[in-house]
Amino acid sequence: MGRDERHAEVARENVAEAGLSDGVNVRVGDAMKLLGAMVDESVEPFGLVFIDADKGGYPEYLEWAVRLSRPGSVILADNTIRGGAVLDPKDGPTRAIREFNEVGPGDTRLAGTILPLMRARIDGVAVARVLWGESIGEKLSTGLVSPE
Ligand SMILES: C[S@@+](CC[C@H](N)C(=O)[O-])C[C@H]1O[C@@H](n2cnc3c(N)ncnc32)[C@H](O)[C@@H]1O
Repeated sequence: MGRDERHAEVARENVAEAGLSDGVNVRVGDAMKLLGAMVDESVEPFGLVFIDADKGGYPEYLEWAVRLSRPGSVILADNTIRGGAVLDPKDGPTRAIREFNEVGPGDTRLAGTILPLMRARIDGVAVARVLWGESIGEKLSTGLVSPE
């Protein structure tokens, strides 16, 4: 999913080269709208979600990701340390990532951590497992016990 048609074309080519075109749906447009559409369509829950679009949207993307997941799904998010800027955010996108990072510990639907990555500046990737939640179209009864 992305809003750039050129990137989507590269993705389609790579998917085709891997022989996976029948199983992969490349969607182009604004992620907020596309995610809502997928919920409306009751698509199958994803086993893995990777969040890497506009940083200001991270808290909202996380909510959509949980809605589009099932217990056991993994949610990844890139750029969650930003050279340490998340400790003292000075702009909107960094504040949003700080908010995203703080959702995890208090959110009983998720268990996760942030792995530091050595890049040109230190950054991080958040890794969270969905413990339980309400997936699209059905109340999940999974055997996983709600912490409440
Ligand atoms: C940092 S790049 C990540 C690309 C990809 N994850 C990769 O590693 O190759 C961010 C991408 O998110 C896309 N993007 C940013 N905001 C978006 C939005 N609101 N909806 C859909 N895509 C968006 C940008 O066009 C860009 O391609």
